[in-house]
Amino acid sequence: MVLIFEQNDITKIKVDAIVNAANNSLLGGGGVDYAIHKAAGPELLKECMTLGGCETGQAKITKGYNLPSKYVIHTVGPVYIDGKHNEKKLLQSCYENSLKIAKDKKIHSIAFPLISAGVYGYPKQQAIEVAVDSIKKFFENDDYEIVVKIVFYDKESIKTASEKFEKIEKYLDKNFEKNELSSENLSVGKPVVKKEKLLKNKKIEKQVRATYCKNRYAMLSDDLPLIGSLKTGKQEIVKKDEPKPITLDKMIKNLDLSFSDSLIKIIDEKKLKDSEVYYKANMDRKLFSKIKNGSHPKKSTAISLCIGLGLNYKETNELLVKAGYILNNSDKFDVIISYFLKKKNYDIYEINETLLYYDQPQLGVV
Ligand code: APR
Repeated sequence: MVLIFEQNDITKIKVDAIVNAANNSLLGGGGVDYAIHKAAGPELLKECMTLGGCETGQAKITKGYNLPSKYVIHTVGPVYIDGKHNEKKLLQSCYENSLKIAKDKKIHSIAFPLISAGVYGYPKQQAIEVAVDSIKKFFENDDYEIVVKIVFYDKESIKTASEKFEKIEKYLDKNFEKNELSSENLSVGKPVVKKEKLLKNKKIEKQVRATYCKNRYAMLSDDLPLIGSLKTGKQEIVKKDEPKPITLDKMIKNLDLSFSDSLIKIIDEKKLKDSEVYYKANMDRKLFSKIKNGSHPKKSTAISLCIGLGLNYKETNELLVKAGYILNNSDKFDVIISYFLKKKNYDIYEINETLLYYDQPQLGVV
């Protein structure tokens, strides 16, 4: 199971099934219920009229009609009173019963709105926590392949635990080196950075990689290691004396482990099971096996694996560089990841919630 967050109108999302936060009559209403009926067309109401309503906490399935999704799973959340009227249990059963139907129908992608968090008044933060915990628990030790999306209609719903965001805001202010090259500018329509500037950033990344290779080369020729700071990208190799000539044969014998070989080595050293790693990396088995067999991961996927392995900040950079990446301070995504690594917080769903809030790509996925 892969769980991701998305800010969108649920009626626009192309998945096998979307979930409707309905009421007991199943005959439509306001909020997401209204939006789904409007987008699906009158056939949906016709089918709902044959279902005889729905108990709170239960779920029923219909076709999707004019919606991009094949099915609609209608579930009825509890009206929140004070948290002492079995609201949490009922809300959990909305997710469980919807997912039960999804599995029965061999559905492999499903999108939930925040059930009960609108008209029914469930506090947003608790509604998100119940949603994430119920979905995680339902698929614990279950290898069923499904992508589950929790869809936020507005950004405010994401900013649930304000103190969490305050700490991240402070960390970003301190560490994020806003410059023309950060994805922040490139993605929010600021004046497009001149090409040569972009090249400069690419040059820094290339320099870092080249430095890493020189470092390997230097170590192979018994030179002293590098000094200098990765941040500026400027490096010099402190040389004791002229390096001994390197034979190609020696270089080939000392080739670095590739990203996938290093991944396998770390899994063995930490005595982890593959399923544990890809579950914690929020990744499906197929993608994990492809990378383990040598295919090159994109940066966010490589980082998801570092999270799944529980690596610290330094170990993460050491593994990333084998795939040609490095965490740098000019990329908001990287700075958010380093925040969680330094806090030793490997809750990939919490990280994804934060990434979504800052319009950054999600970790893991397929
Ligand atoms: N896409 C995604 N999410 C949406 C959309 C949409 N188009 N419209 C609303 N939402 C979000 C809301 O912001 C809220 O976070 O869905 C969540 C659930 O809100 P409601 O739709 O009000 O559902 P709920 O709180 O469960 O109340 C159900 O309201 O609409 C009536 O008939 C419905 O009586 C039932 C009650």
